[in-house]
Amino acid sequence: MGFGLETYKERASRLHWDDLDFEAFAERPLDADALRCVRYMHDVEYHTICYLRDLLVTPAHADPEVTAFLSMWAFEELWHGEALGAVLAAHGIADGTAQLADLRTGLGWRDRVRPLLLGLGGWMAGRDVVAVEMAWGALNESTTQAGYSLLGRKSGHPVLKELLGRIMRQEGRHLDFYTRQATRRLATSGRAQRLARASLRHLWKPVGSGIMATEETRFLLRYLMGDAGGRETARRLDARFDRIPGMGGLGLVTRAVTAAGQPPALASSEAQS
Ligand SMILES: [Fe+2]
Ligand SMILES: [Fe+2]
Repeated sequence: MGFGLETYKERASRLHWDDLDFEAFAERPLDADALRCVRYMHDVEYHTICYLRDLLVTPAHADPEVTAFLSMWAFEELWHGEALGAVLAAHGIADGTAQLADLRTGLGWRDRVRPLLLGLGGWMAGRDVVAVEMAWGALNESTTQAGYSLLGRKSGHPVLKELLGRIMRQEGRHLDFYTRQATRRLATSGRAQRLARASLRHLWKPVGSGIMATEETRFLLRYLMGDAGGRETARRLDARFDRIPGMGGLGLVTRAVTAAGQPPALASSEAQS
């Protein structure tokens, strides 16, 4: 299944898009809904380094295999943010670092205390917390990858689709690492399975929920997964997550999509039928 860390070290790289025709966005811009998704994904990709802060205060920092992966993961995610920033720039939307700094400083006290809580929780839970983090990472990477696939398709824009396809290939390698780690660690610890199940069931929210406005996350879910095809994708993601030891039947992606509601056009057409 997949490939190992050594291969990933060889393959990890910054994303390239210089060869793509971004002039095409001037002739045929993305619509407002697709751009809103790109904005969301841009901000969240750039936030990866802050997620890394939270991971490293837990016992994850003591595992050289995990930290080697995280070093490359944060680097690749940065370039996903850069690439999406270039798409925004092609539409005349500023994506400066001042805006990112505002986002981070605006997160308030919850963001300030998170490293303390995670550090304390990690100290209490010990190495099992790494298994939880790997399961969490697997779910986040799989939903992110699916989100890019759905956005590429819905936008109907060949340049965006190609760019997102390149990002998705890297997300696939992240997903592979997290899944292998979670599977191996959870298979040998019933306690880690119980911890992962409980924390995911009660605390997991779609990627970006902690930093973006609630309405933005709901919009993203409605736009990408609110229709029949999207809901089918959510079911497939849940079924894939079921295969990780102890994670069967959580249905977290479907739950989030249902909570976000349907796209307005679909909701009104179903109400009339
Ligand atoms: Fe990414
Ligand atoms: Fe990723």
